Amino acid sequence: MRFSILLGVLASSVYAQNQTYCTPEGGVCYTVNVPVSTASNNTGDIYFQIRGPSTMSWIGLGQGSSMTGSNLFFIYADSAGTNVTLSSRLGIGNKAPAIDSTAGITLLSGSGITNDMMVANIRCSNCSTWRGGSMNFTDDSSDWIWAFKTGSSISSDNMDVSLPIHNDCGKMHFNLQNAAGGSSANPFLTAAVASPSSLSTSSSSSSAGEEGPASAFNAVRMAHGLSAAMGFVLLFPFGALGIRLLSFKNLVWCHAGWMVCTYIIVLGSLGMGVWLAVVAQQIGTTHAIVGIVVIGGLLLQPVTGLAHHLLYKRVGGPNVATYPHIWWGRAIITLGIINGGLGLQLSGNTTYSEITYGVVAGFMWLLWMFVILVAFITSREKSEAGNDDFGFVSYNSYNSYAGNLEDSRSNSWTRQSYSVGHSPNRQSYLNSVHDAEPKVAVVF
Ligand SMILES: *[C@@H]1O[C@H](CO)[C@@H](O)[C@H](O)[C@H]1NC(C)=O
Ligand SMILES: *[C@@H]1O[C@H](CO)[C@@H](O)[C@H](O)[C@H]1NC(C)=O
Ligand SMILES: *[C@@H]1O[C@H](CO)[C@@H](O)[C@H](O)[C@H]1NC(C)=O
Ligand SMILES: *[C@@H]1O[C@H](CO)[C@@H](O)[C@H](O)[C@H]1NC(C)=O
Ligand SMILES: *[C@@H]1O[C@H](CO)[C@@H](O)[C@H](O)[C@H]1NC(C)=O
Repeated sequence: MRFSILLGVLASSVYAQNQTYCTPEGGVCYTVNVPVSTASNNTGDIYFQIRGPSTMSWIGLGQGSSMTGSNLFFIYADSAGTNVTLSSRLGIGNKAPAIDSTAGITLLSGSGITNDMMVANIRCSNCSTWRGGSMNFTDDSSDWIWAFKTGSSISSDNMDVSLPIHNDCGKMHFNLQNAAGGSSANPFLTAAVASPSSLSTSSSSSSAGEEGPASAFNAVRMAHGLSAAMGFVLLFPFGALGIRLLSFKNLVWCHAGWMVCTYIIVLGSLGMGVWLAVVAQQIGTTHAIVGIVVIGGLLLQPVTGLAHHLLYKRVGGPNVATYPHIWWGRAIITLGIINGGLGLQLSGNTTYSEITYGVVAGFMWLLWMFVILVAFITSREKSEAGNDDFGFVSYNSYNSYAGNLEDSRSNSWTRQSYSVGHSPNRQSYLNSVHDAEPKVAVVF
């Protein structure tokens, strides 16, 4: 249940990397994407798509809240009628806008006029400032304007052609935080090709090669986030709780196997993360560095865990390897959980998904700590009440050995005191018990 919420949140947020606005009438749609590196630097390339019926004479999009001082982009049919001409202009009052050649705009592949639709995929490398204004690429309510003119095609390759006045226009706001994601050099290509109305033999062959990176990046990022969250928020804490709360023969090996499998999952996640960081140039970010430290730090766990187990079998209690195993594990997994939040931030996710991750992960972490605390307090009470010279008490995995211990196997929460070194049966117990080891929880 919690798990499915987590999956749902991650699934919806990872793909939220464009923002679309469609005009109330006319069937014109505008989509914006801000690549991850642009969002984190607040400068760099942004992408937008202008899409509308070819019955439009021209379609326009502008950065800004009114015509005056806006950075405007117009598309109209070129002279051949198969592609669009892209013209960038500066809004000057209500007069016809003047051509502006300083905006670094490029018409990308996937653009064209097919099946009665005009599509322009545009990269702007210089859209954070223009003569007359600027745009903050992390603004959650950025100002844009739109306009179109229906009627006969302009059919010109001239970027400075005079344009008849619009029939409809309006304002819109894009939440650029929700538009942030990916590192594609042409993020709308996949969508344009996939749309049945724009399928054409000429564009599908040329686009096939470029379609990969964007969708692969998103898929890998999704898998990276899901596997890491599953490992750190669910599987590692479950594995740690399991050895405290359960009791059966070979539990310790189940714990070891569970943790090793989880480690393999998060190791795979690290591999994907490294690829993502290289592609999006984010290897120097806190999230990436902490991620590597966490996965590296976890390598100590099997070593201290095995040392604890071997020493335990010889001396029969918590030993020099026990505390490092428990506390290092808790610390490093906690760091891993926190790093998930940093990762969501880095991928330009919505505040909503960050909060939801925080709530789910925080809940799991508190539950974990709560069980540790309860176990500690209960073992304290037990040890005060009775016969434990060493200040710690084992859990019920000892129940099976000594006749004088009541049967509490049915209740895994019931603890039995076990006085290390004072039991005449200790050695025989140790020899016979195989891997039924007291939970390391005894040392809280
Ligand atoms: C339209 O022009 C762009 C930029 O030159 C190009 O990448 C695209 O393939 C063209 N589309 C068609 C249908 O020719
Ligand atoms: C970017 O915009 C600024 C301000 O309008 C302009 O001075 C500069 O030449 C532009 N750069 C490019 C590469 O278009
Ligand atoms: C851009 O917006 C973000 C969030 O709205 C803000 O934290 C940041 O300071 C702004 N940057 C600039 C240069 O205004
Ligand atoms: C925008 O993102 C949504 C969700 O991932 C996707 O379905 C849609 O095709 C994208 N739109 C464009 C124009 O790329
Ligand atoms: C943007 O940030 C990336 C790292 O995230 C860095 O490699 C790149 O040089 C930055 N670009 C600019 C224009 O600052």
